[in-house]
Formats: sequence, structure tokens, C-alpha cells
Amino acid sequence: MANNDTKSGFSHEKIETSNTLMVILILLVLVVGGLVEIVPLFFQKSTTEPIKGVQPYTALQLAGRDIYVREGCYNCHSQMIRPFRAETLRYGHYSVAGESVYDHPFQWGSKRTGPDLARVGGKYSDDWHRTHLINPRDVVPESNMPAYPWLEKNLVDAEAMPAHMTALRRVGVPYTDAQIAQSSAEVSGKTELEATIAYLQALGLALK
Ligand code: HEC
Repeated sequence: MANNDTKSGFSHEKIETSNTLMVILILLVLVVGGLVEIVPLFFQKSTTEPIKGVQPYTALQLAGRDIYVREGCYNCHSQMIRPFRAETLRYGHYSVAGESVYDHPFQWGSKRTGPDLARVGGKYSDDWHRTHLINPRDVVPESNMPAYPWLEKNLVDAEAMPAHMTALRRVGVPYTDAQIAQSSAEVSGKTELEATIAYLQALGLALK
């Protein structure tokens, strides 16, 4: 039994036979391991700085993003292309953290009832999206995506934009005073459908 005794007289048996000591030491390992993995991410350029070409969403795109979240599109669509050949062949360059630094919260996800949307920007025309969102079956007969006909009828809440953008600026999105000041006018009179399409068309363009 003494074959793992060290010269100092310490035996691993002491840990293995004490639940309390074992639990404390396991927690210690998890905490140290976790901190070592997580803390650097808050300071690394690759995770905190936008890659070249990534711009904060315009007011209209941002309104569209809110509709995307409100309607729960993320329940069926991820926005994270994994670094595997099958994925990059289908969707394009794998996603990098620097693409979503202005997303609060990001929409990476993993649930894919529908395809990944990380690089859907520019893939289809605005008209295609309009038809698809109003009734997906009109363009993809076998689609089981729900229809969102009300997006065409609802107007974007223009009044809410300045406060929304100010809040995002507080968490690091570099909106200028001018952008915030003109945000209401920019989305005024636009339908939710137009906003959602503007958002979709902006996805993933920086790293095509
Ligand atoms: C119940 C699951 C489900 C939900 C919720 C859903 N989708 Fe889809 N979506 C799909 C499926 C399945 C497809 C593939 C068939 C098709 O193109 O309609 C798809 C396809 C798409 C495509 C085309 C992607 C491509 O590369 O061809 C876009 C764009 C899209 N969805 C946007 C949205 C938006 C925006 C919302 C929220 C308003 C949404 N989806 C909600 C299931 C869903």
C-alpha cells in the first residue's frame, strides 16, 4: 500500500480516502483550469477586436436583428460555421470571434433545423427573402420554416432606436452621436420585413 508514498511521507491515499479533501481539490483544479482558459479571452485581440471590414449594424440592420431575436429565428438557425471541410464547403469561411464583437448577445447557436446563416448576406436577392419570409413554400416547396407574414405589415419602432444604440455604445459598439441622432429617421416608415432583410443581407460579408 505504500508504493506511492513520496519521500516526504505524503500519500495519495490521503486524498482518495477523504471525500472532503477530494472535493476541495477537484474544485481547485476546475477553478484554476477554468480561469486559465476563460480569462485570456477577455484580453485577446482575436476575440475582442473586430476583424477588418466588420462594421457596427446600421439602425435598420439593428432593428432587423432585434426582430430576428424576437421571432426566435435562432431556434432553427445557427450563425457559426465550424472549421470542418463539410461546413466550409457548404457555407464558406468558418466563423471567427472577431466577426461578432458588435453582437450583443451573439447569435452563434448550435440548433440547425434550417441552414447556418452566418454568411447568408448576398446569397439571395432582397426579393427572394421577401417571398421566403412571407411564405417559405413559395420559393422552397419542401420547406418547414414557419411563415412570417406580419413582418410586412408591422412598422419598425423608430422611437426606440436612439436609446437602443446608446445602450450598445455603453457596452463597446462604437456608434457616433450622429449615427444615434439620425437612427430614428433612418428606420422611420420601414417595415419589419425590410429591416429583417437588411440584417440578413449584412451577415458574414467581412469574411466571404
Ligand atoms: C422551425 C424552424 C425555423 C425557424 C423558426 C426559422 N427558420 Fe429559416 N429555415 C428553416 C429551414 C428548414 C430552412 C431551409 C428551407 C428553406 O429555405 O425554407 C430555412 C431557411 C432559411 C433561409 C435560407 C437559408 C439558405 O442559405 O438557403 C433564411 C435566410 C432563413 N431561413 C431565415 C429565417 C429567419 C429570418 C427566421 C426568423 C424570422 C427563420 N428563418 C426562422 C427553418 C426555420
